Amino acid sequence: MGFVIFPAGPSDAEDLAAVHVRAWRETYPGMLPEAYLSRLSVPVHARRWRFALKQAEPTELTLAAADRSGLVGYAGVGSSRRAIDGEAEIHTLYLLRAAQGFGLGRRLVADAARLMAARGFGSMRISTLSDNRRARSFYEHLGGAVQAERPEAGPGGVMFETAYLWPRIGALFE
Ligand SMILES: CC(C)(COP(=O)(O)OP(=O)(O)OC[C@H]1O[C@@H](n2cnc3c(N)ncnc32)[C@H](O)[C@@H]1OP(=O)(O)O)[C@@H](O)C(=O)NCCC(=O)NCCS
Repeated sequence: MGFVIFPAGPSDAEDLAAVHVRAWRETYPGMLPEAYLSRLSVPVHARRWRFALKQAEPTELTLAAADRSGLVGYAGVGSSRRAIDGEAEIHTLYLLRAAQGFGLGRRLVADAARLMAARGFGSMRISTLSDNRRARSFYEHLGGAVQAERPEAGPGGVMFETAYLWPRIGALFE
């Protein structure tokens, strides 16, 4: 499978929203309320993506991944929500099911880490719902160190998240 990865801009908002909605519906049954997943709306998310991509700071990047059929995934990276100096965070990472298992998730994580390292960030963090066992074992496979579980407000009320930390960001792309 041939994939290209490129920095997304406001003109990619519709395609990102379509991938977002489909990937969430494929990933989260049993983890998020069914009513929430069925209400997800491509036009609503397209507006949010357009706004976010227009307002993005230089250290906030969305990497989009496409094959010949169009967009199949994305990763969003920026500074850590915990405001720890020098810590980057991958805030979002989603591939359509059909694009999983071909090395694209690893490539998106590596590219995001390389770009943040070039901007002076020294470590990387990723959080996931604790119930997302597949994502957790993927981050463990990439060498992330598991952090303490934390409660967060989410679409299903209070949800538990588990973070993974790479104290040396270069470990993700060297
Ligand atoms: C999690 C996800 C990003 C992984 O991407 P992917 O393209 O399927 O994974 P890759 O093909 O890049 O796999 C890279 C390596 O990780 C391994 N791997 C992939 N999924 C794994 C898993 N669930 N458990 C353990 N190892 C895994 C692969 O075997 C491969 O190993 P190797 O490079 O050492 O041979 C992708 O499956 C996805 O988008 N899932 C649904 C959305 C989601 O849960 N996102 C995370 C939200 S926090």
